[in-house]
Amino acid sequence: MSKSGSISVSVIKRLPRYYRFLGELMKQNVIRISSRELSEKMGLTASQIRQDLNCFGGFGQQGYGYNIEELHNEIGKILGVDAGYKTIIIGAGNLGKAIATHMNFEKRGCKLIGIFDINKAIIGDIVAGLPIRHMNDLEEFCHENKPVIAILCIPKDAAQEIANTLVNLGITAFWNFSHYDLKMDFKNIAVENVHLGDSLMTLTYNVKALLNEKK
Ligand code: NAI
Repeated sequence: MSKSGSISVSVIKRLPRYYRFLGELMKQNVIRISSRELSEKMGLTASQIRQDLNCFGGFGQQGYGYNIEELHNEIGKILGVDAGYKTIIIGAGNLGKAIATHMNFEKRGCKLIGIFDINKAIIGDIVAGLPIRHMNDLEEFCHENKPVIAILCIPKDAAQEIANTLVNLGITAFWNFSHYDLKMDFKNIAVENVHLGDSLMTLTYNVKALLNEKK
């Protein structure tokens, strides 16, 4: 049984990467792997990997390594990839449409069930097989369908108010792209703020360091 309730945030953040990596090894029909091999492939230390995986009860066997499928399944369970959490997108502009169309929700424990916007010109358009609905229909939709995750692809200014409304409608988690760092006064709400720009700036910082080295 996993002890996911007590796993540190830094370990949780590494789990999707382990999951993705092990999935790729499964596709190559690799059956098992040692922590040393896994560490070399993933750019982590072997002891870091052993420590991380020990958090879930240690799947590795001395001299055998890890059974890839078993470990992949177990990490999948911890991440909740089979959960099929009902998910809605708020904001069907460029980003909302791109996420709706390109994110493989089912593989990541989510099921996209609704897309909402206020722009009358796009209401009824089909994106990822779903009609864009008007925000006026949000309340009724949530009462009927009980989504748990909302993806916010709306302008910054609208984010906090919409998030508050959504919590009152039963939303428990936000994947927030709005550039507004949500402040949740509610207990037991999960928020993942995403800023692609931060990632790009980390890259530019590293480029700067590399180019300076070459001078
Ligand atoms: P966009 O202008 O194409 O789409 C925004 C959509 O939100 C529009 O369809 C608009 O009608 C809708 N909208 C506005 N107010 C609303 C409300 N109160 N309720 C429901 N829908 C509403 O913009 P885009 O490119 O899709 O970006 C969306 C947001 O995400 C922007 O604020 C942008 O800055 C941000 N963004 C964040 C990124 C990140 O890494 N976090 C990356 C790219 C964009």
